[in-house]
Amino acid sequence: MIEMNVIENVIPCTDVVKLTPRIGAEIRNIKLSADLPEQTIAAINELLLEYKVIFFRDQGHLNDTEQERFSIRFGNASPYPEGTRPIFEIDSVGDLPTDIWHIDWSCMDAYPKISVLRGVVIPSIGGDTVWSNTAAAYRDLPPTLQRLADELWAVHSYPGSSNKIYTEDFTRPRIETEHPVVRVHPETGERTLVLGSYVAGFLGIPRYDSHKLCELFDSHIAAPENTVRWKWKQGDVAIWDNRATMHRATKDYGDQRRIVGRATIQGEVPVSVDGRQSIARFKFMEPRPG
Ligand SMILES: [Fe+2]
Repeated sequence: MIEMNVIENVIPCTDVVKLTPRIGAEIRNIKLSADLPEQTIAAINELLLEYKVIFFRDQGHLNDTEQERFSIRFGNASPYPEGTRPIFEIDSVGDLPTDIWHIDWSCMDAYPKISVLRGVVIPSIGGDTVWSNTAAAYRDLPPTLQRLADELWAVHSYPGSSNKIYTEDFTRPRIETEHPVVRVHPETGERTLVLGSYVAGFLGIPRYDSHKLCELFDSHIAAPENTVRWKWKQGDVAIWDNRATMHRATKDYGDQRRIVGRATIQGEVPVSVDGRQSIARFKFMEPRPG
């Protein structure tokens, strides 16, 4: 389905192909670059807010430097715990597992608002990424569970103390933040769920009950009607609103190599439905006391 769209007013012949009713659109006939006019960048941001994740094929002209230059048109580059590399390379050889639902760096207080991911080495088959619209997942909850979510706060931790992907490692810098489970999106005003693999537990809820509650919300996040799945080709670029989505990779490509490069743009400290801000317990690169 091709729709009339904001970007057509800026760049003629650019098409927006909606991929599912609730999330995702492919934007065709546009060459991404740092030199795009301001109104084009603003139009791309509008599309991002509407579709949550947008895809661009055939951007093989971008290298790490050009990807970074384009990405910072949307804001300041986000700091990385690993160092100051502009592009964070996610390599199937030896990297952290990414095949669990997560929000990029949600252990930080002002976690990234936008991620820009480029397919560098893509397996011939497999390695898709799936995104979920966390505003839709929230809207799908029955009102009683929405009210429960509105009140809940979760601890997001790296390295995690959770039963999920990370193991405790006291030699590494610790980053930990208390986030509301529901944040109000600073640009759209939508309520979105803030959960995923960095969650160590809910404040005031014992571990066992926290785990069950996570499963409950996860089932709405993973519901097929809230998700879109992208089959990568080399040179593809995906841009997502990290405040309104969660995502996961798919590890189904055996020992084929897969490398994607990601730039992230610094976000705002989340605000709960009752106007309270997330609280950083341990910040970027601060050593853990004790
Ligand atoms: Fe990610």
